Amino acid sequence: MRSRRRMSRTRGSGWPAPEVTAMRLKYLGHSCFLVETARARLLIDPFLRDNPRAPAGEANIACDYIVISHGHDDHTADALPVAQRCGATIIANFEIAEYFSARGAKTHGLNPGGSCEFPFGRVKLTLAHHSSSLGDPLNPIYLGAPCGILISADGKNLYHAGDTAVFLDMQLIGRAGLDAALLPIGDNFTMGPDDALLALDFLRPRVTVPMHYDTWPVIAQDAAAFATRAAQAGHRVEILAPGASFMI
Ligand code: NI
Ligand code: MN
Repeated sequence: MRSRRRMSRTRGSGWPAPEVTAMRLKYLGHSCFLVETARARLLIDPFLRDNPRAPAGEANIACDYIVISHGHDDHTADALPVAQRCGATIIANFEIAEYFSARGAKTHGLNPGGSCEFPFGRVKLTLAHHSSSLGDPLNPIYLGAPCGILISADGKNLYHAGDTAVFLDMQLIGRAGLDAALLPIGDNFTMGPDDALLALDFLRPRVTVPMHYDTWPVIAQDAAAFATRAAQAGHRVEILAPGASFMI
């Protein structure tokens, strides 16, 4: 973890307030992102080795925390090797945390609606409408409730929707005031572009980054067309090529 100055005092209150600094978001393809906050590097939904869209040279990626939305292989595949190599703590739902804890990783279990303060900021798990299993298709292990992830750090709120259908309660998540939302648009396994446009109306983020598309033919999408339609509805979409970074 890097030790940059990141807390300032709110005049008169005596309580430290988070200093508003930029959060750096790097897209690693599919639903995998590296989030660099002032105090820690967070790897969300680690999927690198078998990810056809992962940029080259990320095999030795370094992070302090790994945050996981749900159990599916395309969101967890590299969690254990990265956790073992970096000594990173895995933050996920209770069942996923227990699964990786039993395999030797440092973990912190949460469940939807619950949040916890970490040295870099707060992580809350939110609802997602999806499934969450892992392992042998003939004998899959069920790994708790699928989740979205709300990260509050450096005065910014970042929402990673995980894999999900659109749902009306996204309005409640939007009440946090989202500086950025990472939304699946691939269809088939998650919401597609039409429903992602509905989600934008519920979430009202300042900027949206599409994810979970073009990894395989079954989730091929025209992200530029989605961005154009979102702009027509008053929403800003930033398309990140795998390997590209964006300051929130
Ligand atoms: Ni999934
Ligand atoms: Mn997925």
